[in-house]
Amino acid sequence: MYLVLLGPPGVGKGTEAELLAEKFSITHLSTGDMLREAVARKTEAGKAASAYMLKGELVPDEIVIGLFREVVGGAGNGFVLDGFPRNRPQAESLEETLRGEGINLTAVISLKADDAILISRLSGRRQCRDCDAIYHLGNYPPKSEGVCDKCGGELYQRKDDREEAIRERLAVYQEQTPQLLDYYGEKGLLEKISANDTSQETFVRICDILQKKKTS
Ligand code: AP5
Repeated sequence: MYLVLLGPPGVGKGTEAELLAEKFSITHLSTGDMLREAVARKTEAGKAASAYMLKGELVPDEIVIGLFREVVGGAGNGFVLDGFPRNRPQAESLEETLRGEGINLTAVISLKADDAILISRLSGRRQCRDCDAIYHLGNYPPKSEGVCDKCGGELYQRKDDREEAIRERLAVYQEQTPQLLDYYGEKGLLEKISANDTSQETFVRICDILQKKKTS
């Protein structure tokens, strides 16, 4: 199974990708997580990406595409892409890479939620420094404050979850996404769903779509 999740910051791409990866034994590939790791390790890609990420802007395509190509070959059982592609050049590059591997995308699922919900999700988010697990102080709190339930790692607040960066990330999403939706709509791969409700309800909606695809 080869899935792409699209959606604005805070809609729940990472949360749903974790659930999908576990249920279907596929690899969760998040370009945001890859970039944050590159920044933390101070690699060349990380040094180049850091300022864009802090401001909430897109990192240049060549950096992101390079990181993605390094890892995609390892996703033998399938993958769920979270945060990639973000624009048409990235979508074209993805298509070319997958063609080379003989892979067809199963579905592109676009998640949508109201702006007020996105902002509240982003401002309460905490993430594990070690395993990238995602929590929310109100909606999905960890059992012990500041500690990851899964690996015991330290939970932190992302630097781009500040009001100014959130506004920029939402604006970038509004600007870049129509071309992506058109691209995948024309290919008959696009499925749009509401992600306003709980993560489990959204997950059930995604699984229903995948079940229908399997039987059609
Ligand atoms: P990235 O890390 O991809 O951030 P994003 O797209 O802004 O999305 P988020 O990670 O903020 O949100 P999400 O939808 O995954 O929500 P989550 O599941 O965490 O990218 C960060 C930056 O890296 C970009 O700004 C850019 O600079 C760069 N970058 C990354 N990819 C790039 C690319 N391809 N090209 C160029 N630059 C790139 O959920 C949010 C919170 O809500 C959590 O606390 C969660 O617990 C909670 N939650 C989730 N679902 C629900 C629910 N249904 N109900 C209640 N709470 C929920």
